[in-house]
Amino acid sequence: MAMKFMVINGPNLNMLGKREASIYGNDSLNDIQDYTESTLSKMGHSVQINWFQSNSETEIIDKIQGLVESDFSALIINPAAYSHTSVAILDALKMLSIPIVEVHLSNTHQRETFRQVKLTAKASTIIMEGLGKNAYLFGILTQLNKGN
Ligand code: DQA
Repeated sequence: MAMKFMVINGPNLNMLGKREASIYGNDSLNDIQDYTESTLSKMGHSVQINWFQSNSETEIIDKIQGLVESDFSALIINPAAYSHTSVAILDALKMLSIPIVEVHLSNTHQRETFRQVKLTAKASTIIMEGLGKNAYLFGILTQLNKGN
């Protein structure tokens, strides 16, 4: 059976392509979704990916809670600015028993100091940064090449 992945994207990531292109690139979130899925398929991986984006902390928490006792294999999450501020999202992530891969398109360590605090990363299994549009693809690959 194909592995099922939930990908959650936080605030302002719906504006990718129109937002600080020198940092986040020219691709929209839809472009990144297409790129991720087509590359996985070209590599011969058959996976199911549920993509979700919200600017609302509440909706993100509800989506994470929905993963408790679900049949998803892993969560890939870019909490965006909420990674620096949200104890509530951290608490929700701590309820999960599946692997959590936190991704950031940019390398936040090269940016403002407030971006270097990542509250949500405390619950993450893996953290990947600075990979641009490959963040989601590589995040999923970390879970596919585990030999299980
Ligand atoms: C981001 C980095 C965050 O600091 C920022 O608030 C974002 C995007 C990234 O993908 O690089 O919105 O998570």
